[in-house]
Amino acid sequence: MGRVAYVNGRFVRHADAAVHIEDRGFQLADGVYEVWAVFGGRMADAPGHFARLKRSLGELRIPMPMTEAALSIVLRETLRRNRIVDGMVYLQVNRGVAPRDHAFPTPAVPPSVVMTAKSVDLAASEARAAKGVGVVTVAENRWGRCDIKTVGLLPNVLAKQTAREAGAVEAWFVDDLGLVTEGASSNAWIVDREGRLRTRDTQANILRGVTRATLLGLIAETGLAFEERPFTVEEARQSREAFITGAGSLVLPVVRIDSAPVGDGVPGPVAKRLRELYISEARRTAV
Ligand code: PDD
Repeated sequence: MGRVAYVNGRFVRHADAAVHIEDRGFQLADGVYEVWAVFGGRMADAPGHFARLKRSLGELRIPMPMTEAALSIVLRETLRRNRIVDGMVYLQVNRGVAPRDHAFPTPAVPPSVVMTAKSVDLAASEARAAKGVGVVTVAENRWGRCDIKTVGLLPNVLAKQTAREAGAVEAWFVDDLGLVTEGASSNAWIVDREGRLRTRDTQANILRGVTRATLLGLIAETGLAFEERPFTVEEARQSREAFITGAGSLVLPVVRIDSAPVGDGVPGPVAKRLRELYISEARRTAV
């Protein structure tokens, strides 16, 4: 059995999986998504991602396509059918299919639902974390509702491409005040010169990262000094350590910002420890 995807009630061959040309996700980016890291075939941080999914859908007035329990069953079935042990599972919910018109369709149409899954080579991902990655900085140019996890990701796409062309793995958006908002697909953190862990608060126009939230809980247990406060690019460059968090990156040390080294230019002890802590907690609580 090859790769399969779930599309609107059916499992189909991944190569044949398709939505209608007038799906509003396709034409208008009128949809939201979630990504879960998967360990041992089970979804990490499941409740946090479901809570954010419901919130994103609510903000856009798209109904939940099925209950959380039903979504969870189908997501796990997607993992099973693709024989995923360690990897990721992706869920997208669009407003539905209707003749193209910017305003919502009337009467409302059923939301469309797509799920895909892929394997991740954990050894390769550990090797990357052991080396650390580079980030580039780009001007913040996104809309004012980055708290909603929509598929309208063009600024993130362009930022990530800038990173890739510079040999970096992530791009950090920087606002008019010179403060880092977040990464194109991750949240941004530093260990500042005073040894304090810092990441910006989620009242700002950023995604409320689920990995970030879990890590905050773990940090509270370690007793490490922590402050929810934004940092400038300059502070990040002069910090002891930097790292990013997300369902894709987990906790990933950043050793270069725009080609200047962070700290000693190698992953620091705090990021390494938090990566281990996060992965063991994510494995322990995966469902
Ligand atoms: N991205 N910020 C942005 C803009 C993101 O797209 C993501 C996740 C995060 C981290 O959120 P979380 O910890 O809940 O994964 C922060 C996913 C992985 C993606 O787009 O593939």
